[in-house]
Amino acid sequence: MVYTREALTQERRLASLLCRPRPPASDPVDPERFRSVLGRFATGVVALTARGGGEGPCGLAANSFTSVSLDPPLVAFCVAYSSTSWPRLRAAKVITVNMLAEHQRAVCVQMATRGGDKFAGLTWRDSPAGNPVLDGALAWIDCRVEAEHPAGDHVIVVARVLQLDTHADGGPLVFYNRSYGSFDPIS
Ligand SMILES: Cc1cc2nc3c(=O)[nH]c(=O)nc-3n(C[C@H](O)[C@H](O)[C@H](O)COP(=O)(O)O)c2cc1C
Repeated sequence: MVYTREALTQERRLASLLCRPRPPASDPVDPERFRSVLGRFATGVVALTARGGGEGPCGLAANSFTSVSLDPPLVAFCVAYSSTSWPRLRAAKVITVNMLAEHQRAVCVQMATRGGDKFAGLTWRDSPAGNPVLDGALAWIDCRVEAEHPAGDHVIVVARVLQLDTHADGGPLVFYNRSYGSFDPIS
């Protein structure tokens, strides 16, 4: 069989179409699909803490934390506009990032629970900025908000690192597929 150039192009186009993953019939980015796909990306978890203007400490759990820049030293995290703790954290001059350890799942859940005293039963010492560094956290970072970028229902917060140090020894708390786990190095 002799193919004309047009027929060949048409055939290739058809083949590429057939090999492509099929688009889902409904909304390709519905919230459930978004959560289930993004849940396949493993992260650590931090507790953001601060002293909330005479009202005692405030905080929230976040897995959107990441390092950004070495020079200048910047980190970032995303906060939902619906957070009731963020306005208090934001109002503090300095926020402290606590990197949670694998045995701190209950601390994470407590920090993620709206209302009540998020620090009940927890022990900590003060960071140089005077914010809670939770006992058992692997490391802490004192940082000051440098920029805020609106991003849909969240704000991307970029913060400048002021001071930081390691704290307790141990493995990290890992968040994956809506579950908690620990880190198992591949030998
Ligand atoms: C594992 C985990 C990770 C979370 N990561 C974030 C995050 O990155 N950004 C965010 O805004 N909320 C995150 N949350 C939810 C907040 O911790 C929680 O909704 C918030 O603290 C609610 O309380 P608030 O109203 O006192 O802020 C996370 C919750 C969990 C359990």
